Amino acid sequence: MALPKSVRIVEVGPRDGLQNEKSVIDTKTKIDFINQLSAAGLTTIEAGSFVNPKWVPQMADSAAVFSGIKRAAGLSYAALTPNIQGFERAVSAQVSEVAIFAAASEAFSQKNLNCSIDASLARFTKIMRAASDANIPVRGYVSCVAGCPYQGDVDPKVVQTLSRRLIDMGCYEVSLGDTTGVATPLQTAHLVETVASAVAVDKIAVHMHDTRGQALANIFAALQLGVSTVDSSVAGLGGCPYAKGASGNVATEDLIYMLNGLGIEHGVDLNKLIAAGQYICTSIGRSNESKVAAASVYC
Ligand code: HMG
Ligand code: MG
Repeated sequence: MALPKSVRIVEVGPRDGLQNEKSVIDTKTKIDFINQLSAAGLTTIEAGSFVNPKWVPQMADSAAVFSGIKRAAGLSYAALTPNIQGFERAVSAQVSEVAIFAAASEAFSQKNLNCSIDASLARFTKIMRAASDANIPVRGYVSCVAGCPYQGDVDPKVVQTLSRRLIDMGCYEVSLGDTTGVATPLQTAHLVETVASAVAVDKIAVHMHDTRGQALANIFAALQLGVSTVDSSVAGLGGCPYAKGASGNVATEDLIYMLNGLGIEHGVDLNKLIAAGQYICTSIGRSNESKVAAASVYC
């Protein structure tokens, strides 16, 4: 079986994880949380987003979060940017990299970005130009890669074409988002194979929400095809405000446990990570969705 020797984890808990929380989370808690994640050995942390704060109020303090975190050398602190206005705010906050996010479904693009897929790409072109001038790496997301809550089935060929366009625009990597956690492992394998016929596999990441408990199985399917970048969210925090019922990404603790069992390197200290997950869950009064964190209490 061809598995990667090491996996790069993109921790999306502070952004994808917290963006959906209804209660106000104070900025200091977010900063402490991110500092604990970096101390646990995570090297890419999506720390916030510079979207319209009326759309996602929980991310309104992202600039303050970025200015408060203790930046560790060699770590990348990323933020989502939907348009040039968001990109400029992100630059002012001294982000290490940004992420643009397109959808493989027109209906989801309208709900999430208030525009068509083509219009979103036109906005992203402006970001790409500015990012290239400022020497800021850009990651691309494709949402709804395995299905759309508004439109139903999504053709993997559409995901392939969109992924290729994001790479051609200058994204260093494209992350395939199963936004509502509908994918199953053979479907994921087919999707990754389809995208990999147009985009080098080392530029493909997977972003699996665990809504139906399939995330780890889907990630395993992707790893077997050579994918070596995986997004995850400590404590399984999160969801998408524009995908009702979607739960968080695969819990980072559970991903680490699986990688350990597979003998795949990742550089993360599991005990420190579990502590960071417990910290944020206790702070915001939310249940911890990581099975590995729950087991650590008893075994
Ligand atoms: P819009 O309302 O169409 O924007 O939103 P607009 O250009 O018409 O501007 C309206 C107002 O918003 C103006 O202010 C702008 O200045 C302001 P006003 O004149 O009314 O006072 N505005 C902004 N303010 C601050 N920062 C900005 C910004 N842009 C406009 N960047 C927009 C269009 C794209 C901005 C909006 O739809 C938006 O913010 N969408 C983001 C939604 C979001 O964050 N969704 C969750 C993240 S995506 C996700 O979770 C999926 C992912 O995890 C992958 C997966 O799971 O599949 C990545
Ligand atoms: Mg997501």
